[in-house]
Amino acid sequence: MKAIRQQAADILRANDRGGFTIPAAGLYPYQWLWDSCFCALGWATFDEKRAWEELSWLFKGQWPDGMLAHIIFHHPDPSYFPGPEVWATHHDPPTSGITQPPVVATIVRQLLERACDRTLAQDHARQLYPKLLAFHRWLHGARDPEHTGLVAVLHPWETGMDNSPAWDTTLEQVPIVQLPPYQRKDTSHVAETQRPRPKDYDRYLSLVVGYRERGYEPEALYRETSFKVADVGFCALLQRADEDLLALAQMFGEPSAEIEGWLDRGRKGFRKLWDDHSGIYRSLNLSTGESIPVITSASFLPLFAGLPSAEEAQRLVEHLGHWGDEVRYLVPSTDPADPHFEPERYWRGPVWVQVNWLIAQGLKRYGYAALAGRLREDIFELVEGSGFHEYYHPVTGEGLGGRAFSWTAALLLAWPGEG
Ligand code: GLC
Repeated sequence: MKAIRQQAADILRANDRGGFTIPAAGLYPYQWLWDSCFCALGWATFDEKRAWEELSWLFKGQWPDGMLAHIIFHHPDPSYFPGPEVWATHHDPPTSGITQPPVVATIVRQLLERACDRTLAQDHARQLYPKLLAFHRWLHGARDPEHTGLVAVLHPWETGMDNSPAWDTTLEQVPIVQLPPYQRKDTSHVAETQRPRPKDYDRYLSLVVGYRERGYEPEALYRETSFKVADVGFCALLQRADEDLLALAQMFGEPSAEIEGWLDRGRKGFRKLWDDHSGIYRSLNLSTGESIPVITSASFLPLFAGLPSAEEAQRLVEHLGHWGDEVRYLVPSTDPADPHFEPERYWRGPVWVQVNWLIAQGLKRYGYAALAGRLREDIFELVEGSGFHEYYHPVTGEGLGGRAFSWTAALLLAWPGEG
């Protein structure tokens, strides 16, 4: 068998479509926002130029108002649904009309820090800086128009954790509109037991249709949507990305007061997500003001942004310890003690490599190096035992979802270097 790193590099090469990397052949034939960011880290371990190219292709999908779209449909591919004709965003290249977790500024900073070719990295990062700033301005403006410090997601797909049980009750409030008959393509690639249920899919599409009818106009969407959530994961990743953007601004001698303002506001907003009784963070339904009871792996992401106090971090680690008593592999995407936990189904239980990577860095930030090491070891064992899957069964270690998956390969390459 080929060395595992070699296999990982081969997967990235096989999923390369000439400048951007698709997440997995068949299942996801386009460029996805946060997938590509992790892919760039993987590429950088053996081809730095290609890593920066990945990000350049991502920004081809940036809208004039700064939004980075969650999918960029560079080349038409009928094997995917919902494709460009459903979104109908009139962008060139065609894109979806929503965003995804904003890790890109964090990745740019990491690429810079890891760079062997300093000049190449400085040039690219310098060039990307105004585009990154525009993206963050859009997030803090269009998605937090009242300056609460909590940036809203308006679709479960924006969270990157599509069918997480954390969205169930909010999603149930989304009226299902008259949809033309449609055929999902995901279930022809992956078993239905590992994918979202049909009733969820109707609501995902109903949201898309509503946004399309409003011409994706940010104010109308924010005001009129039936799905408006402060996702603890998305907000934490943005807070961390704001920190990284600030570091870039300082490096390039750019003004920083605006970014410092966002960071300050974010820290205050985050207090509303902390549940001191249970010692955990929870997402918030912004339409009703209700805290979302289901706890998922996203609740540990604030560690990555340095948000909890030392004492709060300790309480988060205790939760993780309990989860570790219930499953063999950390970190399951849903609390294994929750009745919604489904170890095979997508974001309702399985372990995801990129989430472990993010949480592990958060744990290291707070000095929990041994637990961070455990998260890394679990991933390596899963990949070595089951191959480069999209996600894994947290009890049996079985590989699930797509195969030859890009971010799994990319992070396997990028992770060892960190020790
Ligand atoms: C699924 C995941 C999302 C990911 C995409 C492509 O939609 O939920 O996080 O970006 O697939 O891999």
